Amino acid sequence: MAIRKILKIGDETLRKHARPVTEVDRRTRQLLDDMAETMYAADGAGLAAPQVGILRRVVVIDVGEGLIELVNPEIVASEGEQHQAEGCLSVPGKRGVVARPAKVTVRALNRRGKPVEIVGEGFLATALCHEIDHLDGVLYVDKLIEELPEEDAK
Ligand code: NI
Repeated sequence: MAIRKILKIGDETLRKHARPVTEVDRRTRQLLDDMAETMYAADGAGLAAPQVGILRRVVVIDVGEGLIELVNPEIVASEGEQHQAEGCLSVPGKRGVVARPAKVTVRALNRRGKPVEIVGEGFLATALCHEIDHLDGVLYVDKLIEELPEEDAK
């Protein structure tokens, strides 16, 4: 495992669309392992592959309920609305409120290439939307409804 460098806002890679993973192989698992290690080392709740310069549809999330690894994730259902404070490892020192669905259902492949479906509510729903947005070059700062003062930033 290895900690990878996290790209910061202003890097054009963060604005590109990531391509689907065509085969979940050893390289994909290596990427997942590195991304999890990088996320934990940076004390983040989620990380998307474009943030480490890899334009593939891969994300890791841990909102305190264990590690979630998703390959080619897609939101297949969403309901409700919530406003949560978000931050992003690519936008250091800032936090802001974004409107997201209160609940989302996501289909993806796991690290063995098997289809999985997860349902996220509350902050997990927000994290799923935030990370999947990264795969399409979208940052939470594009969707801010309120910027929080710097002293509230982690
Ligand atoms: Ni982010």
